[in-house]
Amino acid sequence: MSISNLDPECLQIMSKSPTKVPPTAAVIFGATGDLTHRKIVPAFYHLAKNDLLPDDFAIIGFARRPKSDEEFRKDLGDALEKFSHTKPVDQAIWKKLAERIYYFQGELDDPKAYQKLADKLKKLSQSEKIGENYLFYLATAPDYFGQAAQNLAAAGLASRPDGTRHRLIVEKPFGEDLKSAEELNRTVQGAFAEKDIFRIDHYLGKETVQNLIYFRFANAIYEPLWNRRYIDHVQITVAEQVGVESRGGYYDHAGASRDMLQNHLFQLFTLTAMEPPASLDAESIRDEKVKVLRSIPTPSLDFLQKNVIRAQYGGGFIGNKAIPAYRQEEKVAHDSLTETFVAARFEIDNWRWSGVPFYLRTGKALAAQFTEINIIFKRPPEVLFAASADDRLRRNSLRIRIQPNESISLNFNAKVPGKSEAELVEMDFLYKSGFDHYLPEAYERLLVDALVGESTLFTRSDEVEQAWRLVDAVRDSWRKQNARDLPLYACGSMGPVEADLLLEKTGRHWIRPKEIST
Ligand code: BG6
Repeated sequence: MSISNLDPECLQIMSKSPTKVPPTAAVIFGATGDLTHRKIVPAFYHLAKNDLLPDDFAIIGFARRPKSDEEFRKDLGDALEKFSHTKPVDQAIWKKLAERIYYFQGELDDPKAYQKLADKLKKLSQSEKIGENYLFYLATAPDYFGQAAQNLAAAGLASRPDGTRHRLIVEKPFGEDLKSAEELNRTVQGAFAEKDIFRIDHYLGKETVQNLIYFRFANAIYEPLWNRRYIDHVQITVAEQVGVESRGGYYDHAGASRDMLQNHLFQLFTLTAMEPPASLDAESIRDEKVKVLRSIPTPSLDFLQKNVIRAQYGGGFIGNKAIPAYRQEEKVAHDSLTETFVAARFEIDNWRWSGVPFYLRTGKALAAQFTEINIIFKRPPEVLFAASADDRLRRNSLRIRIQPNESISLNFNAKVPGKSEAELVEMDFLYKSGFDHYLPEAYERLLVDALVGESTLFTRSDEVEQAWRLVDAVRDSWRKQNARDLPLYACGSMGPVEADLLLEKTGRHWIRPKEIST
C-alpha cells in the first residue's frame, strides 16, 4: 500500500502538521543525565533540523555539577555524535542550536536556585527576545519531581493566568504505586494546571502507536470485526534482548511490572481496546482510554495467582553475547526477587470485550527485540473443509508490528497450489516501503506537542492512577505468594514455560515473531 492509495479525507487527517512552536525557553532538570544526552537533546537537534523550532528559542540545562556553557555544549555535541539516529550530524545546524544552549548550576532541593533561575530566564527573555513561555522538563530522579514542581511554583515559574505558557514535562516513572502516584498528582497539580502537565510515556510518541487510532478509525473494514463476536483474544508483547545493563539500581526496585507493564503495555492495551472517541481532541481520546481501565475490575487474588506469571532471567548467551544472571548484574541484590519478565491475562468487562482475554507480556534478555500487537480472530466454521484438512483451519490474525521493521500483516487461509489443503499466508504492509517519509523518534513528537500545549500523547492523572490500581493488585498478589514461585528463564528464550502454559491451558499459543522461526 502506498500513501497515494488512501482516501483523501483520511489523508487530510494524517497530514495535520504540528502547530508552530512559539518562542520558548526550555529548561531541562537533570541536564547532565543519560536521558538528556541520549534522547532529549538529540530530539531538539532533529526538530531544529526539520525546521520545527523558532529562532527565538533557548535551552537551559539545570544540574548540580559546576560546568560552563561551553563545556555543557561540548558534552552534548559529543553525545549527539553517538546517539543521533540520523548520521552524520549536520554541524551547521548543531552549531546554531548549541549557541542557544546554556548551563545553570543549581541544587534541585534548593528553593533559592529556582529564584536565580527565574532571574536568568527573565534576562534571557530580554537579551534573546524569547518572551516568557517556559517549558520545564523534569528528567531527574523521580524523588525530585514533586519538590521541583513546588519550587518552580514558589519562584513564580508555574502556570500563569497572564497568557504566557509555563508547562511541565514529567518523566516516568510517575509514582511507584497508586498511593504515591496520587500524592504526586496532588503535588504537581498544586503547582501547575492539569492542562500544563505533560506526563511522558514515550511509547505514545512512536508513530506506529499513534497509527493505532488511524488504523482502527480511519478504515471501514476492521472496526466492524473489532469485538467479542469476531475476536478470540489479543496478545501484546514488548520483548527486549538487552538485560538491565547499568540500570540495576533503579530496576531492582521497579521490576518489569512498574518499568513496562504499568505504562507502555497499558498504553498499547488501551489504544487497542478503546471505543471510538467523540473527536480527535486530547480529552476525548484520553477519556476513552481511561474508560477501558475503569472497565477492568480489580482482579481477585485467585485470578491473579492463576493468570499472572513473573520470572527472572538466569545467565546465558544471546547470540554470542554473554549476559550475566539478573542477580549477578551490577547493583542488583544477590537474592533479588524482582521480576524481569511478566505475562498477564486481563479481561475488560464491557459490551465490546466481555469474554475476550488480553494477554500482555514483557521481558528483558529475551530471544528477540520486538513490540507487537496480535489480534487473533475466531476460527471460521469448518463445514466445507473439515473432511480434507488434517487439522482444523487456522485462525486469522492481524499482526501490528510497533517496532522494529514497523509493519501490519494480515494472516489468512489460502489454497496450497496443487493440493486440497489450506495454509496460512501473510499479507504485509511495511512502513519502509509504504511511506517515503522521515520517521521521527518518539521524543521529537512529544517535545513539539508539549511546546504547543497538545496533550493527547501524554498520560492524564486519572489514567496513571487507574493503571497503578491494576499493577498494585498484581504486585500485592506476588507479596502473598511463596517467593520460591519465582521461576527463572534462560537468556535468549521467550520467558518461562509457565508463560506458555498461561495460553496453552486454554488451547491458545503465543504468536511467534518473524525473527524466531522455530
Ligand atoms: C523504558 C524502560 O521506559 O522503556 C526501559 O525504562 C525499556 O527498561 C525502554 O528498555 C524500552 O523502550 P523502547 O522504546 O526501546 O522500546
